[in-house]
Amino acid sequence: MYTTLLTDLTDHILTVTINRPDKLNALNKTVIAELGEVVSEIYENKEIKSAIITGAGPKAFVAGADISEFLGLSKEQGQALAKKGGDIFLRIAASSKPIVAAVNGFALGGGCELAMACHFRLCNTTARFGQPEVNLGLIPGYGGTQRLTQLVGRGKALELMLTGRMVDPAEALQLGLVNYITEPDELLTKTREILSIINQKAPIAVHHIIECANLATGDGAAVSGDTEWEADPFGGDDAASTADKSSNGFLREREAFGECFATEDMQEGARAFLEKRKPVFKGK
Ligand code: COA
Repeated sequence: MYTTLLTDLTDHILTVTINRPDKLNALNKTVIAELGEVVSEIYENKEIKSAIITGAGPKAFVAGADISEFLGLSKEQGQALAKKGGDIFLRIAASSKPIVAAVNGFALGGGCELAMACHFRLCNTTARFGQPEVNLGLIPGYGGTQRLTQLVGRGKALELMLTGRMVDPAEALQLGLVNYITEPDELLTKTREILSIINQKAPIAVHHIIECANLATGDGAAVSGDTEWEADPFGGDDAASTADKSSNGFLREREAFGECFATEDMQEGARAFLEKRKPVFKGK
């Protein structure tokens, strides 16, 4: 079905492997288009509760956008390319089902951006992160300037983007770019372990946690219809009273908290706790 992706659905976890190892899994037009399709599959297939994105072969997660497609592009074509990839990455961020990056080898340029669009990241000891676009006279175009700044802070993000240098796993962990470092052959096992825990939680609560966390940074906003992002996460008096509830994280959190009470799963979760048994969640 896909020509550049391998997919495997086991225990409600879809593993998506970007499969162009001879080109270090660089994101050409076909990979980008197929990533868009697989994100739709994750959204729509009820058998999928969460997903992993990883790269084929021992050398790379994704070594960036495919540079061979860059020569001769006009300003408008460059902007269209950024919109196409950027919108797909926003849909990854906006997914109500967790999508986690399992980073093996190089995660450079669009590869680092893809990993950062995921809800969180694990890597193995071979990983190398970086935004080397500046070496090509370019800048990150799939949300990297925003997500790297949000993840590691402005000073560190600027240093990394302006020098284009690579970050090893120990530094990535210290920066908060990844949550765990594993041995090379334990990366997918560890990632699946974490997702198996999340898959047992109430899906509507999982969805609202992702939704509200995204609102803290404006991530996923463009695809959830909140194009008028209110840049006031602390909701000062005026902003809090006038802000659209769907775009202010603090206000949306209150609403979503209440919405959880209207779910069967929340009632089941509280009842199971009081009855000292494991809850059985149905996503209702
Ligand atoms: N786009 C297109 N092709 C790429 C690529 C990219 N982003 N990254 C790697 N490749 C290709 C190489 O051209 C090479 O193809 P070839 O065998 O047909 O010549 C193949 O993948 C292997 O890469 P190679 O450079 O030989 O491997 P290496 O181990 O010597 O170096 C990197 C690895 C990651 C340091 C190096 O490939 C690199 O710098 N890639 C570009 C990273 C980048 O700038 N990304 C941001 C793009 S906006």
